[in-house]
Amino acid sequence: MPTLTVNGTALHYLDAGRGPGAVLLLHAFPLHGGMWAQQVEALAARHRVVVPDYRGLGQSTPAPLASTMELLAEDVRALLGHLRLERVAVVGLSMGGYLAFEVWRQLPAAVRGLVLCDTKAGADTPEGAAGRETFARNTLEQGLHWVADQMTPRLLKPDPAPAAVRAVRHLIGGATPAGVAAAQRGMALRPDSSPTLATITVPTLVVVGEEDGLTPPAEAEKIAAGVARARLVRIPGAGHLPCLENPAAFTAALAGFLDGLPA
Ligand code: MLT
Repeated sequence: MPTLTVNGTALHYLDAGRGPGAVLLLHAFPLHGGMWAQQVEALAARHRVVVPDYRGLGQSTPAPLASTMELLAEDVRALLGHLRLERVAVVGLSMGGYLAFEVWRQLPAAVRGLVLCDTKAGADTPEGAAGRETFARNTLEQGLHWVADQMTPRLLKPDPAPAAVRAVRHLIGGATPAGVAAAQRGMALRPDSSPTLATITVPTLVVVGEEDGLTPPAEAEKIAAGVARARLVRIPGAGHLPCLENPAAFTAALAGFLDGLPA
């Protein structure tokens, strides 16, 4: 898989499939682009699909001190330029949604549609930001097993399938402690995207797992209510990662939306 050296980082990405319209898939924390494997397989027959790993997660190195959304959006801009992609549909899940808002703010002309999955528009409360700093320090002291123990139950629905637990722990194992800490510090610094919602003019799909405890359906409802051309889809039998826990329903919703978008 290719790596682009950009902004001092070796940015690892997947570039699969062919089609008139390109799709950019932005992953969740503390995972990497591999979380989209089932969607890439389904979409690549009809779309060009580009999937980066953020700095310090997956195979992109090294981690910065803080993976701010501004910094990650600059990486996205460089990647799209390198691939000569002028317009993409941007699909972001959770942290990927925070980044999708930033990509929209920086590069609205490059966005032909938005899919905001299991994410929220608001910034962290001071307590939330402090909790991320504690998490970052614990990660650097205790490592990725600790991260997997903390995050796996939060990412999946209550009483998850053992295969989903294994998949998530495996994805977390693809991070580095420095990358996890940087992502937490970057998310703590993200701006409030609530005022951005009214600026979004492209067709938008909002998706949420019905059993998402991290960014519950009420957050998705707020996004859908704030974006003029938004439609909301709830995915049954899934927590924060419907792409893994109910891939059939999630991929069908995603593919239906993407197939209907003009290139
Ligand atoms: C994610 O799934 O990307 C994160 O849990 C989001 C967050 O920590 O706010």
